[in-house]
Amino acid sequence: MNGKVVLVTGAAKRIGRGIALRLAKEGARVAIHYSSSEGEARATAKECGDAPLFRADLEKVGEIERLFAEVQQHFGKLDGLVNNAARYTRIDPLEITEFDWDFIHSVNLKATFFCCQQAARRMLAGAGGKIVNISSLGGIRAWPDHAHYCASKAGVIHLTKALAQAWAPKITVNSVAPGVIPFGEPDERVKRLIAKTPAGRAGTADEIADAVVFFLTASNFITGQVLAVDGGLSQK
Ligand SMILES: NC(=O)c1ccc[n+]([C@@H]2O[C@H](COP(=O)([O-])OP(=O)(O)OC[C@H]3O[C@@H](n4cnc5c(N)ncnc54)[C@H](OP(=O)(O)O)[C@@H]3O)[C@@H](O)[C@H]2O)c1
Repeated sequence: MNGKVVLVTGAAKRIGRGIALRLAKEGARVAIHYSSSEGEARATAKECGDAPLFRADLEKVGEIERLFAEVQQHFGKLDGLVNNAARYTRIDPLEITEFDWDFIHSVNLKATFFCCQQAARRMLAGAGGKIVNISSLGGIRAWPDHAHYCASKAGVIHLTKALAQAWAPKITVNSVAPGVIPFGEPDERVKRLIAKTPAGRAGTADEIADAVVFFLTASNFITGQVLAVDGGLSQK
């Protein structure tokens, strides 16, 4: 990935941090995006060889436009985008309000689309590029207690397939669908999911990063694909 400029959204902590650290280790020049986790973002950026930090609330398209303009101004180009930032809530579908619905979709699906659009405008005008959208096992398998989240991530998967066609051959658009990737002590529900996972364990941020690096370094003959990194749970 030597010298490739890659923007990772939501890179301050957890999976995003793991992806950013791994890309930096592979030789990429990483742009660290965060929203509220400034302290953690600074720590991640430092570990990525003093990578530059970019703050933006991705709920607002104006902020997304400013974010990409700032990244362009800093690096002069954009080779890759990892759409990792997202929200997650579990609410009975009968109780979901308009606010609950928009809270999830404004980041998980709307921001993912507009980040793809901003990246693609620059990549198509330049040497092309690679986009990786982080979806979820919840976009493949449906769970009734977070239908709104599952719908948003199924949307990310379908968006990936549509944009892959729209922007081929200069840009590839692929998706990594994580299974259970806990941080800290898992709750009872997560423990039950881990017990059901054919691999017999939860996954790690570095295993998600493996799949991201694969798509970022693959040829343009691999596009519109979804790779579940879930220990086989999507097959159950
Ligand atoms: N962890 C899992 O088990 C799992 C399973 C399946 C899929 N995934 C997917 O994998 C990705 C990473 O998961 P994670 O658990 O590491 O995510 P996370 O910690 O829940 O969220 C990642 C980051 O998203 C950013 N974000 C949220 N709302 C934002 C907004 N309005 N504007 C800008 N940034 C915003 C936050 O940045 P700040 O903290 O800076 O505000 C947050 O740190 C997500 O797409 C998630 O859906 C995770």
